[in-house]
Amino acid sequence: MASKKGSDKYSVLLPTYNERDNLPLIVWLLVRAFQESGHDFEIIVIDDGSPDGTLEVAQQLEKIYGKDKIVLRPRAKKLGLGTAYIHGMKHATGNYIIIMDADLSHHPKFIPEFISKQQEKNYDVVSGTRYRGSGGVYGWDLKRKLISRGANYLTQVLLRPGASDLTGSFRLYKKAVLEKLVESCVSKGYVFQMEMIVRARQLGFTIGEVPITFVDRVYGESKLGGNEVISFAKGLLYLFATT
Ligand code: GDD
Ligand code: MN
Repeated sequence: MASKKGSDKYSVLLPTYNERDNLPLIVWLLVRAFQESGHDFEIIVIDDGSPDGTLEVAQQLEKIYGKDKIVLRPRAKKLGLGTAYIHGMKHATGNYIIIMDADLSHHPKFIPEFISKQQEKNYDVVSGTRYRGSGGVYGWDLKRKLISRGANYLTQVLLRPGASDLTGSFRLYKKAVLEKLVESCVSKGYVFQMEMIVRARQLGFTIGEVPITFVDRVYGESKLGGNEVISFAKGLLYLFATT
């Protein structure tokens, strides 16, 4: 195991809704990635009252890895992804925050790359990108690919945010920067990821990018439906009109 570097600590926010089958594996991969790279960390699980018993699984993991590594911050019901991050952030003790999906679409092996990229130029934000270099998407059908590409393309044209993946949600933020961004963000649904990058640019924060592969989930199903697509479009138009 490598030695700890300085006093930096990384708080990983893992929002979960029906991720019972995925949680043990993602946590194991996270712990391994941090132990191998020698960075201090905590994993904050924000479960929204999953009916499949995700929270009970998380409690088992808390026992295995310890309360300082697995921090449970559940909410009583499904209140959405955007507010889940905000809720988790309030309990984070690290000076850096990593947000990612809990369904194994985002592989923890990329985290050391996020950290080195951040340190390279002291970036305020490091964003995982599926649309540059060796990045990519695996397992999505054509419809889902078109929605993602379309959302990115429209946003690029309308808002010119200067980052290649706007709807992705595998990112590292300086904690103070994330707090600032959350304060200035109006949207709370899936469009939240896009607004965060747009606001970051607007407020003059620096953004680094790391190519990542996004692999569609094996267990469980996506919570992104037609409603999310419509609210994304609304959010995008709102930002276009106001920024
Ligand atoms: N706590 C909580 N509450 N967690 C939630 C909720 C909620 O209401 N909705 C979803 N999640 C969790 C899931 O359990 C998973 O860990 C993560 O948030 C992403 O949800 P998915 O349902 O798997 O999203 P996706 O795969 O369709 O969408 C991914 O790609 C989109 C487009 O690139 C995500 O990365 C999105 O954030 C991204 O915008
Ligand atoms: Mn997913």
